[in-house]
Amino acid sequence: MTQYGKVKQLLINEPKIWLVTGVAGFIGSNLLETLLLLNQKVVGLDNFATGFQHNLDEVQGLVSTEQWERFKFVEGDIRQLADCKIACQGVDYVLHQAALGSVPRSIADPIATNHTNISGFLNMLVAARDAKVASFTYAASSSTYGDHPALPKVEDAIGKPLSPYAVTKYVNELYADVFARTYDFNTIGLRYFNIFGKRQTPDGAYAAVIPKWTAAMIAGDEVYINGDGDTSRDFNFIENAIQANILAATANSNAKNQVYNVAVGGRTTLNTLFKALQENLITNGIDYNQVPVYRNFREGDVRHSQADISKIQTRLGYDPQFNIIQGIGKAMPWYVKSLN
Ligand SMILES: NC(=O)c1ccc[n+]([C@@H]2O[C@H](COP(=O)([O-])OP(=O)(O)OC[C@H]3O[C@@H](n4cnc5c(N)ncnc54)[C@H](O)[C@@H]3O)[C@@H](O)[C@H]2O)c1
Repeated sequence: MTQYGKVKQLLINEPKIWLVTGVAGFIGSNLLETLLLLNQKVVGLDNFATGFQHNLDEVQGLVSTEQWERFKFVEGDIRQLADCKIACQGVDYVLHQAALGSVPRSIADPIATNHTNISGFLNMLVAARDAKVASFTYAASSSTYGDHPALPKVEDAIGKPLSPYAVTKYVNELYADVFARTYDFNTIGLRYFNIFGKRQTPDGAYAAVIPKWTAAMIAGDEVYINGDGDTSRDFNFIENAIQANILAATANSNAKNQVYNVAVGGRTTLNTLFKALQENLITNGIDYNQVPVYRNFREGDVRHSQADISKIQTRLGYDPQFNIIQGIGKAMPWYVKSLN
């Protein structure tokens, strides 16, 4: 945990109360684990829409009893303002992760995505503002770049959204900005680019590519590539995203009221990703020797995605410690153990 540098020392000297929404999900449960290991107090809010009790149980097993006692779980729904208000009481920093992820889910049911990602987001902003929290850091998304052709993606140059999900994440940014200017409220949006790591679920129709393919390879099933495999992404290991959250929440006020790319600044095609997972599985004792099955491109998908990370590096001191290969190396033993 040397990666948090001065911030880590500051937190250890003066522990804070953090609210992690979506705490039973992939990113939320990883934030919870790190914050508890840093001896912070954490309130978690989740309604288990796409999160799991077993994620919380796993975190409990990874921290000391004393650290776990610093965690308070609120089972609740961000679509209910009252639940948001209960969760925000006495909190210093909000890390708002709760949302319905997935572009295809939003295409299948835009109303559900809108309710959680826009109405729920607004409830959280109001509750956090009224509770006078020190900062409100939220999960934005690289999908906000939409059809803008530039590569790498720079924060100020966005195009038209390509899915209902992307609309909701862009609206989050607009609301956060208006709250910052209207109510003098500290908000920071972190535009995540394909985060991956342990506890990201491989199950369900809307699973992300790394866990979905890893699970298929471990089971000896077919791996499907949407399109020609040349589609590329800036895959970012979860530890880098955790660092970004902690730096954002504790940043001084001139770094606030902004959005930042959270990525490594690299670009990996799906074909390269397939080979990287295959090679890593060999080192974990699993030899997957099938070739991938190519099928149609997926609706709403951006063709290429790569972040310019200079803004977050300069203003927040973000320094990603893991590239994609190192991240896969760290994540894979968990998948092999959990799925085998
Ligand atoms: N994983 C990525 O690569 C990625 C990329 C861009 C943005 N994001 C954003 O990051 C955040 C976390 O994503 P994740 O990958 O951990 O997804 P996840 O589905 O694992 O976690 C989301 C959590 O939010 C909870 N939740 C959903 N609706 C809720 C509601 N109405 N009330 C309370 N809790 C609710 C779910 O139960 C779940 O535990 C989301 O906002 C997502 O849009 C993720």
